Amino acid sequence: MISSNMAEILNKHMNAEFYSSYLYLSMSAYASSKGWRGCSSWLYVQAQEEMIHVQKLYVYLDDQDARIELYAIEKPPVEFGSPLELFGAVLDHERKVTALVSDVMTVAVKEADHATETFWQWFVTEQTEEEKNCRDVVDRLKLAGETGPGLFMIDNELSARVLVPPAL
Ligand code: FEO
Repeated sequence: MISSNMAEILNKHMNAEFYSSYLYLSMSAYASSKGWRGCSSWLYVQAQEEMIHVQKLYVYLDDQDARIELYAIEKPPVEFGSPLELFGAVLDHERKVTALVSDVMTVAVKEADHATETFWQWFVTEQTEEEKNCRDVVDRLKLAGETGPGLFMIDNELSARVLVPPAL
């Protein structure tokens, strides 16, 4: 059993994860429209990963017998600029999510909600990984350039990403 305050916070965070998935799907569609197939594929996998984050929250709330509320999902942008601007926006978004994840942990600690603290540790670790992955893409785009052969090489590399679902 978790507090109604914690249930509300986790429901809101589930909405933020839904939005992340929506955002990356919109980015994937944008990249596809530009012919950046590897970027599009990478972002599509990212959108799927965000839905796994949603599922983890859904299952946890249900296991805790908490009321699940599905809030409206904000419409994401449709234009994202150059490949570097696109992945810069991914990194910015992940940094915002990291701050939200940190806020949830702060509340869990304050409420001495050890079950949520343990559950939430996975999200804390996951955010470090997600930020690192996005930063890697941004760095590689800066190194190789975002036009011509450089972009072709990075785009090819990004196409290799596959979804590795974690245990729920
Ligand atoms: Fe679910 Fe990318 O944070």
